[in-house]
Amino acid sequence: MKFQARHQPLDDEPERNVLELEPGNNFEQALHDLAGFSRVWLVWWFHRNEGWRPHVMPPRGPAKRRGVFATRSPHRPNPLGLTPVQLIEIKGRKLILGACDLVEGTPVFDIKPYIPAYDAFPAAKAGWIDEVDVAMETPAEYHVVFATLAENQAAWLQQEWRIDFRPRLVELLARDPTPHRTRRITSRRGTASFVIGCGAWRAVFDLNERAVTVQSLEPGYPQRFLNDPVRAEGLPDREAQLAFLQRWPEMPR
Ligand SMILES: C[S@@+](CC[C@H](N)C(=O)[O-])C[C@H]1O[C@@H](n2cnc3c(N)ncnc32)[C@H](O)[C@@H]1O
Repeated sequence: MKFQARHQPLDDEPERNVLELEPGNNFEQALHDLAGFSRVWLVWWFHRNEGWRPHVMPPRGPAKRRGVFATRSPHRPNPLGLTPVQLIEIKGRKLILGACDLVEGTPVFDIKPYIPAYDAFPAAKAGWIDEVDVAMETPAEYHVVFATLAENQAAWLQQEWRIDFRPRLVELLARDPTPHRTRRITSRRGTASFVIGCGAWRAVFDLNERAVTVQSLEPGYPQRFLNDPVRAEGLPDREAQLAFLQRWPEMPR
């Protein structure tokens, strides 16, 4: 299976993905009558994740932890993903799909037709997501850019680990990059820089009037902690943080 992961799939992207069903199970027949549906639900396994926590930090909105069941976080007690994707075409045992938020090789448990009359409730309330959307309507006041090192580190995380917290980082810094406990922004001791916590990661940035320059990224936890299997159990992005420290050993830990 070839998938590009995003937080939630966006329809206006020209992306194509292939979901190939296993041979020898009469799955060709099981796909009969599905071609007329423009969208299907995929039920799948966050197979790359281990462990979970009751509170997680969603990529949207202020740096605030939410109950995992109030989020679409991949770190869940039963790591099941649910995605409505565009069904472009069916070729034998292959489904050609539009934009997906699954990484390549993700095991898919089931396919179900998306039925707008049953599955869509556009007027339904969306709790804290609605609140974040309202807050986002206020215009951003700071301009955020990435220095070369930060840009390279973000690209590496995206390519190697499918981790991309840039949108969240820019969203937070563009609104207010000044030190604040709940926004997890502090001054970096002994320097003129600042550090912001963003999920399991941190970013070091400089502030010059209304201009924010993200200088570098860092794991949110020290190597000692990451290497401790008991304390670090279920920690989000633990493997990726360890790999990051191997790749950029000169970074603080
Ligand atoms: C925010 S989750 C939402 C998934 C699904 N739409 C849902 O609501 O259950 C999407 C993210 O899960 C991660 N992901 C995708 N496939 C994965 C896998 N097989 N194992 C672990 N994480 C995965 C990617 O980082 C992707 O951006």
